[in-house]
Amino acid sequence: DFSWKLADHPKLPKGKTIAVVVLDGWGEANPDKYNCIHVAETPVMDSLKKGAPDRWRLVRAHGTAVGLPTEDDMGNSEVGHNALGAGRIYAQGAKLVDLALASGKIYDGEGFNYIKESFNTNTLHLIGLLSDGGVHSRLDQLQLLVKGASERGAKRIRLHILTDGRDVLDGSSVGFVETIEKDLADLRAKGVDAQIASGGGRMYVTMDRYENDWEVIKRGWDAQVLGEAPYKFRNAVEAVKKLREDPKNNDQYLPPFVIVDEQGKSVGPIVDGDAVVTFNFRADRMVMLAKALEYADFDKFDRVRVPKIRYAGMLQYDGELKLPSRYLVSPPEIERTSGEYLVHNGVRTFACSETVKFGHVTFFWNGNRSGYFNSEMEEYVEIPSDSGITFNVKPNMKALEIAEKARDAILSGKFHQVRVNLPNSDMVGHTGDIDATVVACKAADDAVKMILDAVEKVGGIYVVTADHGNAEDMVKRNKKGEPQLDKEGKIQILTSHTLQPVPIAIGGPGLGPGVKFRKDVPQGGLANVAATVMNLHGLEAPADYEPTLIEVVDN
Ligand code: 3PG
Ligand code: CO
Repeated sequence: DFSWKLADHPKLPKGKTIAVVVLDGWGEANPDKYNCIHVAETPVMDSLKKGAPDRWRLVRAHGTAVGLPTEDDMGNSEVGHNALGAGRIYAQGAKLVDLALASGKIYDGEGFNYIKESFNTNTLHLIGLLSDGGVHSRLDQLQLLVKGASERGAKRIRLHILTDGRDVLDGSSVGFVETIEKDLADLRAKGVDAQIASGGGRMYVTMDRYENDWEVIKRGWDAQVLGEAPYKFRNAVEAVKKLREDPKNNDQYLPPFVIVDEQGKSVGPIVDGDAVVTFNFRADRMVMLAKALEYADFDKFDRVRVPKIRYAGMLQYDGELKLPSRYLVSPPEIERTSGEYLVHNGVRTFACSETVKFGHVTFFWNGNRSGYFNSEMEEYVEIPSDSGITFNVKPNMKALEIAEKARDAILSGKFHQVRVNLPNSDMVGHTGDIDATVVACKAADDAVKMILDAVEKVGGIYVVTADHGNAEDMVKRNKKGEPQLDKEGKIQILTSHTLQPVPIAIGGPGLGPGVKFRKDVPQGGLANVAATVMNLHGLEAPADYEPTLIEVVDN
């Protein structure tokens, strides 16, 4: 007999105001000059660390602790916020796709059988991020899928690649394109007409998120579907190399290009009858393209031509919208998230971030589900992000505005939980601009201060943590932990996330003196935070949640 009702916590009161602050991309690492958090002035986060013993600790935020295939997988915002919100560890997209490919089940599913109908007469198009970053997609999965599809009858295959440089080193895209080109050449030798048809940098082409800038999707649409782009090349290795020669371009921001034949005609527009697979497993940066590919009713940009296609996602990206309706691998079934429990137990929630991270504290937090559980109990506020810039130009981003909204929500007395994501250390860290990332870390620290001041005023509680590492290490390191030099003897800037643990701090005047972190969950990770927060709301966590990090000792 399932019930949403949670038991009262035996020792902790209900009704407190709790600020849950997630610093995006804020890990813990040794202090050195590539640790932007260390270099930056961050008095508030420093004081939490140096403050009350037993109220600051580290938690695991990468690898199996967040449902990723191996301990070599860095954390990311999707799995991090899923774990924070759901309180349990789910095998995540990366892992589920690995399993489906290894067992061959991917080819027996409804999704594959649906697209397969096109193989005899038409082209199979694969659109997605070409890298081994393992955050949105993985090159080896694409390789297996291309091979598997060709063995199952795909005679004409076109790849539409997005270059990375954000979850992997900038410049690595050339190697990834060479690798996949070799596979495609092998296929051609076997009589399969397989080639790359278009490309572009992920941040400029296709992979926008949370509807920040539809122009990004349109650029991709023009190249992928219409076969039109400002740059035309005969092959993709040449395209990436040539476009990178312009110092303004890097892997993340390559302009869109199409591959053309001798006559200058694009080799792979998407036409009626074709099959299309978006091969990213991660949702946030594929939802917008999925809408453009799937929705008959669509007004975000002029699609010019809307081919009648058989479309499947690698996964279903949005469980509430059922988008896309066909998919190759079933997504993790993240249910009974903490947010859903809280609305059933009288906890009123406010959540806020700026556009580029808004879905992290709503959609990801709620188990890849859009919208409210109960709009009477919840309020989600999105602050519009700046679009069309790289965030090193404005490293403060909207941290102040987010903090002001959180402050006002706390002071209003209307909410028990006020949850925010502060994006600075992550979004600026991804640009690889070290000076700007230092500024970003300070901006996030200032925002934390404003929120903690408000908590102080209302006698509330704070939980300050992060979703994964990023800004605490900005250089590629060798096994000994020293900066690894490239062929020219230069350091390599790390634009990606890290394997580092993240801090969690609790405190505030509303926190009883006996509340502290337990010593018996040393391996604790992000999934342990949900039960912790439920306890602080005066509730026992569901039995199947990962254990709470706190205990209450009688003084
Ligand atoms: C991105 O999508 O920006 C990066 O690939 C991962 O960053 P996030 O996990 O912090 O969103
Ligand atoms: Co990030």
